[in-house]
Amino acid sequence: MKVLVIGGGGREHAICAALKKSKKVDKIYCASGNAGIASIAECVSIGDTDIEALAAFAKSRTIDLTVVGPEASLAAGIVDRFEDEGLKIFGASRRATQIESSKEFAKNLMRKYDIPTAKYAIFADYNEAIAYLERHQAPIVIKYDGLAAGKGVVVAMTDNEARNALKDMLLDHKYGDAKVIMEEFMQGPEFSFMCFVGGENVYPMALAQDHKRAFDNDQGPNTGGMGAYSPLPFITYEDRAFALEGIMKKTAKALVAEGCPFYGVLYGGLMKTAGGIKVIEFNARFGDPETEVVLPLLKSDIFEVFNDVIDGRTPVLEWDTRAAIGFVLASKGYPESYDKGIEIKGLDSLQGVEVYHMGTKSDGNRLLTNGGRVLFVTALADTLSDARKHAITQISKIECKNLFYRRDIGYQAV
Ligand code: AMP
Ligand code: GLY
Repeated sequence: MKVLVIGGGGREHAICAALKKSKKVDKIYCASGNAGIASIAECVSIGDTDIEALAAFAKSRTIDLTVVGPEASLAAGIVDRFEDEGLKIFGASRRATQIESSKEFAKNLMRKYDIPTAKYAIFADYNEAIAYLERHQAPIVIKYDGLAAGKGVVVAMTDNEARNALKDMLLDHKYGDAKVIMEEFMQGPEFSFMCFVGGENVYPMALAQDHKRAFDNDQGPNTGGMGAYSPLPFITYEDRAFALEGIMKKTAKALVAEGCPFYGVLYGGLMKTAGGIKVIEFNARFGDPETEVVLPLLKSDIFEVFNDVIDGRTPVLEWDTRAAIGFVLASKGYPESYDKGIEIKGLDSLQGVEVYHMGTKSDGNRLLTNGGRVLFVTALADTLSDARKHAITQISKIECKNLFYRRDIGYQAV
């Protein structure tokens, strides 16, 4: 079988690595891939939203299955287009992807179907938003319902911060003309619950926790994620059962009822609050970097899983019971400005870890940094603490003068 993976980061490297283990997969293509992915897949330079070119490529190579990584491809309608062409694809349709691409859609769905989430109101008008703020007061969360380069969520601890955020978003249109969601401030540990979903059928993966802030002790600016681990000792059996039944399955059913059944990976960004487990956000795809710790724990054939989910069969999902932990090695300066093109050496000497490339490129025999997040190193062991020690020992063998990483990944569990 021939598989095409869309995307070119650590998540896609982990998906390609899992597919590589399948006995049924002979050939993997990745559009556009990266220097690490190139060691297991043939990389083709087609952008992840160039849907016409991707469909033409899939046809010309008689691809048996396409797997989509990035949200941008889903939101651009790649799945709808491929299905129109009779091409098999694992991912959510454009309408189902609204659960991630439109916060208004997601919040209204949760309200309609009684799925627990922060109380909220939606505003296009600045004065109405200010009036709401006067009634509810800080701490309050303000979210821009559109693309805002990661700056669209302001957790305002004071009314003043909230006013400034509302002014930026609704008066000065700093990010564009979209609406704003004002939300009740919630507190508690956050976790990621990814499930394979085929219509009403929901098949859970191992739980993971991401670390958003750039520096140790959750200091510094928000990033795309600096590390992840699994399992999560602070999530009880009952918590997980509720998250599965009362959130993930309920949401899958709600999407079917709304006429946009979800096929693909539904990602619940959840919080364990004093009032129970609640939804912070949904994503319509595999999380990054959660995928880089969760897929190494999957013992079953992922190619079969993708096909079973699409075709309505129950997939076999067998999980390694060990702990997994992974560290992002990021360019100094990330998530703000940073240099690219700095040489990385020593990767060959790492032992007993998986190394996923997030942003690299090759230059002849040299490997160079090519992004904010550059590498992801995952270790598995019987305990999280052993996995963490092993990963850090191996990371210390990587020679590159422009990388940093958070050493405290998993601190809520170790
Ligand atoms: P989002 O983009 O919606 O995932 O929000 C980004 C981050 O903001 C989350 O990971 C939380 O840490 C924080 N956040 C979002 N919504 C809330 C909320 N209602 N209460 C507290 N923190 C929140
Ligand atoms: N790790 C968060 C995300 O994938 O959006």
